[in-house]
Amino acid sequence: MTDFKGLSPEFLGGVRGKRVLVRSDLNVPLDDGRITDDGRIRASVPTIKALADAGARVVVTAHLGRPAGAPDPAYSLAPVAARLGELLDAPVAFATDTVGASAQETVAGLADGQVALLENVRFNAGETSKDDAERGAFADRLAALAGADGAFVSDGFGVVHRKQASVYDVAQRLPHAMGGLVAAEVEVLRRLTVDPARPYVVVLGGSKVSDKLGVIDNLLGKADKLLIGGGMVFTFLKAAGLEVGNSLLEEDQLDTVRTYQERAKELGVEIVLPTDIVVADSFGDESSARVVPAAGIPADSLGLDIGPESGAAFAAALADARTVFWNGPMGVFEQPAFAGGTRVVAAALAAHRGADVLTVVGGGDSAAAVRALGFDEAAFGHISTGGGASLEFLEGRELPGITVLEES
Ligand code: 3PG
Repeated sequence: MTDFKGLSPEFLGGVRGKRVLVRSDLNVPLDDGRITDDGRIRASVPTIKALADAGARVVVTAHLGRPAGAPDPAYSLAPVAARLGELLDAPVAFATDTVGASAQETVAGLADGQVALLENVRFNAGETSKDDAERGAFADRLAALAGADGAFVSDGFGVVHRKQASVYDVAQRLPHAMGGLVAAEVEVLRRLTVDPARPYVVVLGGSKVSDKLGVIDNLLGKADKLLIGGGMVFTFLKAAGLEVGNSLLEEDQLDTVRTYQERAKELGVEIVLPTDIVVADSFGDESSARVVPAAGIPADSLGLDIGPESGAAFAAALADARTVFWNGPMGVFEQPAFAGGTRVVAAALAAHRGADVLTVVGGGDSAAAVRALGFDEAAFGHISTGGGASLEFLEGRELPGITVLEES
């Protein structure tokens, strides 16, 4: 993981006794109330700890999932508060609302160096409202929790692409600073876009090509090779004239994918597609898993992973890369029969170290896959906490949560 670059000594020097509102991204996967991957909580700890150690009264605000703008116990941050407390090795006071009586009481009860977490900020409709006034009114209440001499620290990299009250509007209302996690993420992602060391290889997977259009578009002009796997590969294979059986296919993206293939040719960028595929008779049916050539996917089967020959070819393409960005699993990695492709790519990256090599695993599913498959995170140059945010950054889009820190 990238070294933590903390808040400036000047900022930390001025926070003792003051309330600092911190926006973190604590949106972690839960299974029956149990956290299945705490990566984002761990990544949020250094900033919170640095502020607490400096004597601030730290008020953390975050979201979980996409509740409909009203309290919903299924999306409560209570389990996250407990895990955060374990990681900080200090109690975390939990407010059972966002800006109401519980939040006010919890915040008022903090002593210097103590930490509170507010309930899911998306339990209030103002958080995600498209209406500036409604969002602003909620941001006023969040800012009020910090008080007249309070401050705001933006540390939720995974949400900086969202123009939401706790990310954007609150920064316009309080003195603010960029947290160490956001600063570290931005620094690494800039290295992928500004003069990357070559060869620069991008590995893209995940289910839908329509989620990755912007990033493919932008990276076609920058990368030397694009390795494609995951569910999205079947739209590429079909566009290349192959039959894909019942595999995931986005018919409406076929023309777009063809234009990518033409542009890649013109630019001298190699798009590498798998030559073999692990198929099954139905989704997730491990008992029928078998390897077939990509040019011979049976009409009554569907592809759920790249095959071993393709995995070896992808690993070989990664071996001499000096810059790598990987986003999206190669297959249904949650099931062992379809995890081989993702495992091979992760192993190739983990083995590929060196002072002049930068390997970046771009958030969301691929980061979870790396951890779920038991790889040591330290073996990768950088594991981003942002899924959509890292993709939007690489698309070259403006990220409201970053712009607001620079502008106001
Ligand atoms: C993520 O999971 O990528 C971030 O937490 C943002 O969540 P969102 O896509 O629901 O805004």
